[in-house]
Parts: sequence; structure tokens; C-alpha cells
Amino acid sequence: MKHLKTTLTALTLAFGVAGFTHAAPIEIKFSHVVAENTPKGQMAIKFQQLIAERMPDKVEVKVYPNSQLFGDNKVLEAMILGDVEMAAPSVSKFNKYTKKLQIFDLPFLFKDMDAVDRFQQSDSGQELLNSLKTKGYIGLGYLHNGMKQISASSPLQVPADAKGKKFRIMSSDVLAAQFEALDAVPLKKPFSEVFTLLQTRAIDGQENTWSNIYSKKFFEVQPYITQSDHGILDYLVVTSTEFWMGLPDDIRADVKTALDEAIVYGNKVANDKAMADKQAIIDSGRSKVIVLSDDDRQKWVESMKPVWKQFEKEIGPELIQAAVASNQ
Ligand code: LMR
Repeated sequence: MKHLKTTLTALTLAFGVAGFTHAAPIEIKFSHVVAENTPKGQMAIKFQQLIAERMPDKVEVKVYPNSQLFGDNKVLEAMILGDVEMAAPSVSKFNKYTKKLQIFDLPFLFKDMDAVDRFQQSDSGQELLNSLKTKGYIGLGYLHNGMKQISASSPLQVPADAKGKKFRIMSSDVLAAQFEALDAVPLKKPFSEVFTLLQTRAIDGQENTWSNIYSKKFFEVQPYITQSDHGILDYLVVTSTEFWMGLPDDIRADVKTALDEAIVYGNKVANDKAMADKQAIIDSGRSKVIVLSDDDRQKWVESMKPVWKQFEKEIGPELIQAAVASNQ
């Protein structure tokens, strides 16, 4: 229904039907779960600003941060119903819709964010943007957050330290297998619940980026953070095919241009925040950052990497090879 309204508005704009010249702008509700002072939060605000500057009468972006409108577990269903037009869930949250995006969750796959960029810009990476088409979604672009670290209530120096401990994970089978490989207990929970789970000690730890650990104050209730850089947290900016294809061509093109620019900006914020937020956590004195020796890091690699084999068939060995090649 909402989309019918949007489409009518779009048609009005496209054809300038008499009497409708003052039609309301097309609304793009952008829902996300993180704070505003994060790469995704800043990217969404930049997108809103660019649209407001460039096409104020045609399109209006409304940003809803902090799971205000939908949590990541609900937003994709809401998008198909026409209750929200854009979101950028982490790639780990598409498990239900495609197995291909699981590639981004494989532990120790990418050596740094430049390698992630090279893979995403490659033909294989660009093809993955279309992996949700049959489910009614279009991937509009990737956005970075950064490398993940593991926070916990006790020090995790070697993989054996994680044994028997409960870790919150995003809704990804690869991430579940990764913690099972440590003989730990993974629990799939929405982002909005993580702080309370940690604070009440219902769980022992979680994995996330410096930016999320800082902006959601996980470091205040987790006395240890192991600098593992064992995986990445990346986002897929998505919309529904129905909404996107219902936009007039010129508007769609201009919205995409603004979004691409906002993503470039968000990626820069991600890069800056990875360092700044880590430093802010260290400066707070609330959480000790455990830096791994090469030997200890290798133990984490050896414990977690067998997960690749478990998912090789679902993801596709060629895709994994293409990702590995991006490290060079
Ligand atoms: C998480 O659930 O830990 C992250 O995906 C949150 C986010 O969007 O960065």
C-alpha cells in the first residue's frame, strides 16, 4: 500500500500531472541499529543531507538510528511490507536470505579493510550485490565498519580461554561455527540487547568493532578486549526491488549518486573511528586491551580457520579463492 502511494507520488513527479505539482516528496525511511556517532550513523546522516541539498522537493530521507524503528531482525521483513525503504544490516544478518554473503563472516579471510575493498570492487564482489534479487531486495552498495575484536568478562589470551563461555553473535551460522570451534557457546541475539546481556552477565562476551564497542558502551561492562582482528563487520545497503524500480529513472539515478557519495564518506569515518574509538577505550581505563603475540594469534587462526571447510560448499570454493586473492 505504502509503495502504491510512493509510486503514485513518483509518477506525479515524473509526468508533472496538473494539480499534483505540489505533491509531497518521496519518503525514504532509513532504519539502522547503531548510534549516530558510528560509520553507519554518519553515512546515513550524510545521505540525508545530500538529498536535502540536491532534491529537496523530490525526495526526503528520514533516518531512524538505535533500533528506534526496527531491529535488524525485523527490518528486512518490514521493507518487503513497504514500512521502511532503506537499511544497512551487517552482511551477517542475511543468512536467512542467501548463503553467498556468508563469505564475509569467514574468520581470518581478509587481512585488512583494503583487501575487503578489493574483493568488493571485483566482479565476484559486485555480483554478490545481486544475491538477494530473488527475495525482493537490491544491494545498493557495501559500507565498512571495520575489523572485529572479542570482548569478555575474563581475559582471552589463547583460544582455550574461551572454552565453555557464552558469546553473543549476529544471526549467522558461520559465526556460530566460529565460536563452536573454540568449544564456546554462541547465542544469536539482536544488537539492541547486547549491552544488557553483558551488564547482567547473562553472557560472557561478544565480538564487534571498536566503533560499536565504544559507541554502545560495551567496554564499560567488559573488562577485557582481545585485539584479534579475526573477522570483519561490513554492511549491505539494501532496498526493496519494488520501491527501487518504482522510482522514476532520473530520481533513482540521483538518489544512487548521493548514496554512493555518502558511502565513501562513511568508509572514511569507519577508517578514522577504528583507531580513534580504540584509543578512547584504552584512555577510559575501563577495559584492558589484550594485544596478541604472533604465536598466540596463530593459535586463534588455527582454531577458527577450519570453519572455512564447513561452509565451502554453500559459499562456493571459487568465491573463497577470489576473496583470498584480494589479500595480495
Ligand atoms: C551487530 O549486531 O553487532 C552489528 O551488526 C550492529 C551494526 O549494525 O553494526
